[in-house]
Amino acid sequence: MISTDVDLAASWLRKGELIGLPTETVYGLAGNGLRDETIKRIYEIKQRPLINPLILHVPSAADCQTYTYQLPEKASVLASAFWPGPLTLVVKKAPGVPDMVTGGKDTVAIRVPAHPAALEVLRRLDFPLAAPSANPFGRISPTRAQHVQDYFQETIPMVLDGGPCREGLESTILGFSPKQEPIVLRLGAVTVESLTDLVGPVRIFQRNGKEEILAPGMFGKHYAPRAPLIFSDDVLHSVLRQKARNIALLLFEKPLPLSRGVYQICLSPKGDLREAAAKLYETLHDLDKLEPDVIIAQQFPQTGLGMVINDKLKRAAFQKHQ
Ligand code: TXA
Ligand code: MG
Repeated sequence: MISTDVDLAASWLRKGELIGLPTETVYGLAGNGLRDETIKRIYEIKQRPLINPLILHVPSAADCQTYTYQLPEKASVLASAFWPGPLTLVVKKAPGVPDMVTGGKDTVAIRVPAHPAALEVLRRLDFPLAAPSANPFGRISPTRAQHVQDYFQETIPMVLDGGPCREGLESTILGFSPKQEPIVLRLGAVTVESLTDLVGPVRIFQRNGKEEILAPGMFGKHYAPRAPLIFSDDVLHSVLRQKARNIALLLFEKPLPLSRGVYQICLSPKGDLREAAAKLYETLHDLDKLEPDVIIAQQFPQTGLGMVINDKLKRAAFQKHQ
């Protein structure tokens, strides 16, 4: 059921059920983050490995203190600047946080979402909400209530409808090295540039043997539509090489001058990366319904949200068709 009833949402959550929860980034599959049985259900329904931990959502920065120790200084600066908002901090966890949430790690990922309906629900509860993005493992994240309903209508009692997500990209996840230097563990709606403006240079986590343990679940195929996706820095060339019949192009600003009947969609004709980001997943959902043989996605400018869009598209293309 899709509904805007916040009280009903809170009552399902108090009973230990899971609901679809709107946030400003993407919709979450939310449940009581202190209740093992509920948390286990999240992993089951998402078909997600137990070692890939969940984010705790709290209604305010003050509530964060219940589940963490003193934040590193740079974490406090960023929390004041971005919360409520699309920044998740990975910090030392307090004893009350269940191992089920953190995958047995001594850190917890936590954020204050900026969606009014999410905040209203959280304020009605006396527990935090564990909420991964409400998509089966490896599928496109949902940015509308209907996307969640399509994925999970048989398994959850309710999707709280908060309209289309404003950001349309997941939160940026920031962890800290043992020396308390900030490390971006996942690119997201808060750009690297805006973090740097506040706390100086931040490292972007790179895949290597040792660091993989730091951020499980950040690798490989993700956010993938059903059709194979080609991520291309020369779309025209990729189209001409393509033998498939039904080709869909996912572009930034302008359509290409093509005579063949190729379906073309531009995420922001006015060249606004924020608009493009907000439309990215929604467009991938729409393309899934059109069932093209192949999707060719353009490489975006490698700056600000363009860098984030490129990261998501690269993952969508991973191990597929190239
Ligand atoms: O925008 C978002 O962050 C959305 C909305 C619903 O809040 N949530 C979301 O959750 O994207 P999820 O579960 O799809 O992604 C959370 C990521 C996972 O890749 C997980 O590995 C990482 O956060 N994570 C969680 N706890 C962690 C920890 N203690 N250390 C390192 N990474 C962690
Ligand atoms: Mg996810």
